[in-house]
Amino acid sequence: MKDHPYIVAISGASGSIYGVRLIKALVELDRQVLVILSNSGLEVLSHEMGYKKIDGKTEAFKEFLVSCGVQMRSQDQLEVFYEDQMASASASGSFIHCGMVVVPCSMKTLSAISSGFADTLLTRSADVCLKERRPLILVPRETPYNLIHLENMTRAHLAGAVILAPSPSFYGFPKTIEDLVDTVVARILDHLKISHDLLPRWSS
Ligand SMILES: Cc1cc2nc3c(=O)[nH]c(=O)nc-3n(C[C@H](O)[C@H](O)[C@H](O)COP(=O)(O)O)c2cc1C
Repeated sequence: MKDHPYIVAISGASGSIYGVRLIKALVELDRQVLVILSNSGLEVLSHEMGYKKIDGKTEAFKEFLVSCGVQMRSQDQLEVFYEDQMASASASGSFIHCGMVVVPCSMKTLSAISSGFADTLLTRSADVCLKERRPLILVPRETPYNLIHLENMTRAHLAGAVILAPSPSFYGFPKTIEDLVDTVVARILDHLKISHDLLPRWSS
């Protein structure tokens, strides 16, 4: 496996499929992945992707990922954490990683990150990214946005986060939902500076 881990955090906005697809891509690209799940993220995963919630059971989430086609090379390629595990490594600036993606990012999590309200492992880890100047990509999902959402995005951007909206592209003629999702996940991988072949690149 290559280098340090990537953090993928799934919060409680619609679009958990983006987070799961990113985890799958990173695992296939031989990266180590640290997953952080908010409580509401688990709710939405149950609702949108049929995840069966079993509180605090890391193995259950790994089995769910396997059922989504994620094929880990070894058990330690992927670690799963819940929002209340504040004593975990990623809550500390001394923990080195290659970047964190909050995908999907709810308006509540966006608000917490943009105001420094770091009361869960997810929001604390994002806060640490900003202070340590490590890559932080937020994939906010809501529509339409109100002024508070927009201002929070601006603040997060000014603090160093990349706001990467889940706006799928259509010029590659996607045929399935997975194809559409990949148009967004490909841009996330680009911003993490990871080479991939999820999509053909635009050339005229
Ligand atoms: C099925 C479902 C879909 C939701 N979709 C969104 C959404 O797209 N965007 C959003 O900001 N909140 C959404 N919410 C509300 C959030 O889950 C809620 O604000 C929650 O407190 C977010 O917590 P978290 O940021 O800690 O994960 C959704 C809730 C449910 C149950």
